[in-house]
Amino acid sequence: MNHLNWSEDLTLGLDTLDNQHKELFSIANDLLSAIDRAEGETVLKEVFDRLKNYTESHFKEEEAYMGSIDFPGLDDHAEEHALLLMRVNTLWRLILSDENISPKGVALFISDWISAHIMDSDGQIATYAQSLK
Ligand SMILES: [Fe+2]
Repeated sequence: MNHLNWSEDLTLGLDTLDNQHKELFSIANDLLSAIDRAEGETVLKEVFDRLKNYTESHFKEEEAYMGSIDFPGLDDHAEEHALLLMRVNTLWRLILSDENISPKGVALFISDWISAHIMDSDGQIATYAQSLK
C-alpha cells in the first residue's frame, strides 16, 4: 500500500508546524504498515490511538498558533479540525465493529485528508503568517 511521502509542497515554512506534520505522516505510515502486515486488533488499536492522540494535540497547538497571530480564518479552520477528528473517531468505531471495512479505504481516507488539509487549509496559515513579515 502506498505510504505518505513528505514533499516540499507540504512545507509551510513554519518549523514547529512542519515538524508536527512530518510526525503525523510518520505515525500515519506506521498505521499503513500495520494494515499492510494485517496486524491484529491490539496492534492496530495501539497505532490508531497514537495517530488520534497526536492529531488532537497537534490541532490544539495549531489552533493556539493561529490565535497568536490573529489568523482571520481560525474559526473555519478549527471547525475543519473538529470535523476531521469526528471522522477519525467514526472510522475507529467502524474498525472495531463487525462491519467489513476495507483497510485500503482507511488508508486512502487518512492519506487524503492529511495531505489535502496540510496543502489547502494549513497553507493559508502560512500565507497569512508570511504577510505579517
Ligand atoms: Fe490544520
